[in-house]
Amino acid sequence: MTEPSHSDPARYLVTAALPYGNGPIHIGHIAGAYLPADICVRYLRLSGRDAAFICGSDENGVAITIKAKQQGISNQELIDNSYGDAVKAFDGLGIKFDIYGRTRTEKHNQVAQEFFLRHHEQGYVQKRSTEQLYCPACDMFLPDRYVEGTCHHCQTPGAKGDQCESCGKMIDATKLVEPRCALCGGTPEVKGTDHWFLRLDSFEKDIQAYINAHPHFRDNVKRFSNNLLKQGLIARSITRDLDWGVPLPLEGVAGKVLYVWFDAPIGYITFTQEWAAAKGKPALWKQYWQEPDSRILHFIGKDNIVFHAIIWPAILMGHGDYQLPYDIVANEFLNIKGAKASTSRNYAVWVNDYLEHFSPDPLRYYLSAIAPEGSDSNFTWEDFQLRNNSELADTLGNFIQRNLVFAQKYFEGTVPEARELSTRAKAMLAEITTARVEIAALLDAHKYKAALERLMRFAQGGNQFLENEKPWTTRKTDLDRCAMAVHIGLRVVEALGVFMSPFLPFAADKLRLMLNLPALAAGDWHQESLLVAGHAIGNPEILFRKFEDDEIQPHAEQLGL
Ligand code: MF3
Ligand code: ZN
Repeated sequence: MTEPSHSDPARYLVTAALPYGNGPIHIGHIAGAYLPADICVRYLRLSGRDAAFICGSDENGVAITIKAKQQGISNQELIDNSYGDAVKAFDGLGIKFDIYGRTRTEKHNQVAQEFFLRHHEQGYVQKRSTEQLYCPACDMFLPDRYVEGTCHHCQTPGAKGDQCESCGKMIDATKLVEPRCALCGGTPEVKGTDHWFLRLDSFEKDIQAYINAHPHFRDNVKRFSNNLLKQGLIARSITRDLDWGVPLPLEGVAGKVLYVWFDAPIGYITFTQEWAAAKGKPALWKQYWQEPDSRILHFIGKDNIVFHAIIWPAILMGHGDYQLPYDIVANEFLNIKGAKASTSRNYAVWVNDYLEHFSPDPLRYYLSAIAPEGSDSNFTWEDFQLRNNSELADTLGNFIQRNLVFAQKYFEGTVPEARELSTRAKAMLAEITTARVEIAALLDAHKYKAALERLMRFAQGGNQFLENEKPWTTRKTDLDRCAMAVHIGLRVVEALGVFMSPFLPFAADKLRLMLNLPALAAGDWHQESLLVAGHAIGNPEILFRKFEDDEIQPHAEQLGL
């Protein structure tokens, strides 16, 4: 295990967990992975670093086939629908992947199969005969959570085939008393079938060394991984009997596919290859995945930790040609009004519904402000309204607006000259520099919530500066002093526009137009001020509007709580 390099890398590869292609995107997904990943990439580029941003839809596996059956549509139709929904949702929220791929392609099959074969050749996968529950009525082997019965440890009825909720013990589905198929209610039977197991045990030492060599992992990732490692890693089956997945690339194994959790993360690689090819540089993907001077960052929800911190590094190690993830940024869950979101009960806030009524930045703001970074957090429509109105509209929007209006009204729409700086003005300028450094440090550490708080503190400082300088008074008594205050105020506005752009890209773009400045480009995080005296600004417009009770209420009521 070589130590990861902590010097500034040549490039970053940033991924966000591939959404299952079996349903629409809700705000829990956004807060958990896609928004922080997008903020990360926007910030990396703004601060002059190279980053590729990779995502796509996870379209294999039994969950797709079950959902399609329930909806009475074909698997293909289901994944096409959800692909369309996801592209629209991400696009509408300004979450801008370099590619949003799909795992149901011949290309992806090849990439995933090559991984399997490497492992197979090196003895990391092992064929074993197993016994599993098979439902004759549904004509399928039942995944553990689709079997119900009486727990063979504590005799509690209604237990699922993976774990008993009553006694907490792991269940062997074939030992459930009076098992029932959760799909049709029929009685499944025990049937023998061969599967290929990934020998995680043979990677145990290397995975432990890997976790130890990454002390910057978030606590949840370290805790979870160390806990599993303490119990010891055991071989896991990476094949399934199913007709919807990547075919197992061996002779005489018709009807067997790779387990979706084996092929899905390999999708990150497939999509990077497709992205590079589309750029006309088909070998470019290798730099990101295989050169030691790049850094791979995975953004995920906490339910994905085992797959990204244990199994995925094992898959990459077993192959041998790849870099291991430098960081795994795992978030806790976003609850909705105190309860867990549920797709099946339609208890969720769907992104495309939201976008029919509101613009993207307020949601990006609120989900960053309540980011479930260290613990679960809670979305409510009322709180969304409150924080939009008091923070986004009042603290941030109003401050920007006032400065631009002063410049327009008192100084003919230009940046006035600051002849002599007051002590307060010098302190305000110093705070621009301090805020730039501190927000950057928080963003580099993936502390998005704290970074946004620091940004808002900077905006409050700007408000305080205006309250103290009172340009609306000094314009009658001391025009030079008034000019100085508005000049400094605009400098704060300009800096706010840069700092907020990873979080609020739409408003940030608009603000650049209002300031009559060129659009933000790579490296501009460190840019010197462009607001020289005499620079003509554009027309001030309202950046963030307030939401009325009657706009919010119907949404709150729809949740039925
Ligand atoms: N589809 C999975 C989920 O939604 C995540 C897959 S992430 C990947 O939980 F790494 F496998 F791609
Ligand atoms: Zn059945």
